[in-house]
Amino acid sequence: MKKIILSALIAALPASVMAESSLPEKQLEARQLAKQFLGQLKPELGKAMKSAGPVHAVDVCYKKAPEIAQNLSQSSGWNVNRVSLKPRAVNAVPDAWEKQTLEWFEAQANSGADIKKLEKFEIVKLDGQDTYRYMKAIPTGDICLTCHGTAVPPAVKAKLEELYPQDKATGFHKGQIRGAFSFQQAKN
Ligand code: HEC
Repeated sequence: MKKIILSALIAALPASVMAESSLPEKQLEARQLAKQFLGQLKPELGKAMKSAGPVHAVDVCYKKAPEIAQNLSQSSGWNVNRVSLKPRAVNAVPDAWEKQTLEWFEAQANSGADIKKLEKFEIVKLDGQDTYRYMKAIPTGDICLTCHGTAVPPAVKAKLEELYPQDKATGFHKGQIRGAFSFQQAKN
């Protein structure tokens, strides 16, 4: 009898709830953190683009993105970063695990996966220490193309060259993977 009630209950739960609850707690935590990062950076970017134009917005990204990452690292206990196969910031160069994951995201996207849902959670050994690692793909949207697209305006390009002489993060099209959030935390 109990069994029947239980299975009836489970059947009544929406599929999304079931999928969520079966994921490791740490993965859900990291997912939440990615939301927070985006939720703080996107409005700053939008505001700067609107009020002062893209050249100034480059400066905002230059200052705010690392600041947000640092604050989130402190408040969450995760090491918070963003990486890319075509990095702009010097700290966005992926390590071996990140590179492999970014390549897996690309392969998934090429076979039709929804970029917004691409993520990876794993416990890996890092310098002998079990470590939680999490990555979530970041899609390229319209607003991104001014600074990451194929036709970056000359004034923006000049500003980018000044701040990021090694910049590889242009030439993207809408809908491509721009990079990924990458978080890690030592497992106790
Ligand atoms: C005004 C110019 C500008 C716009 C618009 C912009 N970015 Fe960036 N982006 C930057 C700059 C500058 C950096 C380097 C930030 C830093 O120093 O940490 C950056 C870095 C990144 C990174 C970190 C990895 C790397 O290569 O350094 C990702 C991911 C990223 N941008 C995604 C996006 C996405 C997605 C959008 C659209 C929603 C977007 N950007 C829009 C200027 C811009």
